[in-house]
Amino acid sequence: MNAPLSNQRIIVGVSGGIAAYKAVVLVRRLIEAGCEVRVVMTEAATRFVAPLSFQAVSGHPVRTTLLDAEAESGMDHIALARWADAVVVAPASANLMARLANGFADDLLTTLCLATSAPVHLAPAMNRQMWAHPATRANRDRLVEHGVTLLGPAAGAQACGETGEGRMLEPEVIVEAIVEALADALVANARPDLAGRHVVVTAGGTREPIDPVRFIANRSSGRMGFALAAEAARRGAAVTLIAGPSALPTPAGVERVDVETAAEMQAAVESIGAMDIFVGAAAVADYRVAAPADHKLKKSGETLSLELVPNPDIIRRVAERAERPFVIGFAAETDHVREYAAAKRVAKGMDLICANEVGAGKGFDRPDNALLLLWDGGEHELPQADKTRLAGEIFDTYHQITQD
Ligand code: C5P
Repeated sequence: MNAPLSNQRIIVGVSGGIAAYKAVVLVRRLIEAGCEVRVVMTEAATRFVAPLSFQAVSGHPVRTTLLDAEAESGMDHIALARWADAVVVAPASANLMARLANGFADDLLTTLCLATSAPVHLAPAMNRQMWAHPATRANRDRLVEHGVTLLGPAAGAQACGETGEGRMLEPEVIVEAIVEALADALVANARPDLAGRHVVVTAGGTREPIDPVRFIANRSSGRMGFALAAEAARRGAAVTLIAGPSALPTPAGVERVDVETAAEMQAAVESIGAMDIFVGAAAVADYRVAAPADHKLKKSGETLSLELVPNPDIIRRVAERAERPFVIGFAAETDHVREYAAAKRVAKGMDLICANEVGAGKGFDRPDNALLLLWDGGEHELPQADKTRLAGEIFDTYHQITQD
């Protein structure tokens, strides 16, 4: 799926109403659209749908209480409020709207809505009389005055058996509205500081075939490279993303070339002429099988040896071009991170190397990472952060080094 967004962080707030079951589908659809989702439920919502359902679809524990010692020691409510690019409350009950309109912060969800600087969207869902009540109307007007966006409600048959205005919008319609709002915000907030540049990014791991059904691969998810491609596009660059096999959605405005092997990645990079910035974020296999079998290898009781031959070093070749771009590479190390990375930067002719420690749950296939950036005459330590944020810092560092 070619999702219009990637790496956008959404808090889905669920308040107590029968439409809460539809919020499970909403979370699902937001994730399919490329968003990262955390779910926060009111106490009443948990009577309608078990938090476990939301945990299963979002892939993260659900937060229900404000003063949860364990959760507060991890991402506390202020950190969660800052984390979000948008908050969507669906369903928003009459009670939730009343509390929000009056600035209550008597549970986690209302507190987050007060504490966040991200846009808040509400998808009201209630009986038509409740929606039409002057108290609800006043709350609605007040919320709109406070900058909250209302999505719906729709008119139609209601769970209470009545027909009228108050039905929650369908999850797909809510997702469409959110995606549009986020895309608009991205464009409005982007600094076009890479406008007019061609940025080429390699991402993901490669697959080196052994035979038609087996291959040698690695743990790279492609997330860092995809985040860099997305960030470069947001900053106005023309971006080519050369990606090893990855299920990640293509970031908006990025031209994607899918490859499998290191040789294919190499050929794809070579086919590109002028580039201003090259980012080698791919975990390219150092070796490939010398002669992959053209038929499925049969099992036998004997040991099997595979002859491996070195793959071309893609980033080094780019750095050796006569008209070389600014070259950014990565170093994933299990130990001696600084020394090994500094040596690798020089050996491969990179202008900037982004080093990180891998192994023991660090680095690969995670949405966040910590990086040490090294260049000729300087360094930056970037503490554990979301890969989107890191991508931004990497391009900021590029500007710092090149002073443009
Ligand atoms: O030597 P090592 O694999 O640790 O180097 C990592 C850096 O070099 C990364 O930026 C990676 O994308 C790049 N690389 C490459 N081609 C290779 C091996 C690594 O571009 N064959």
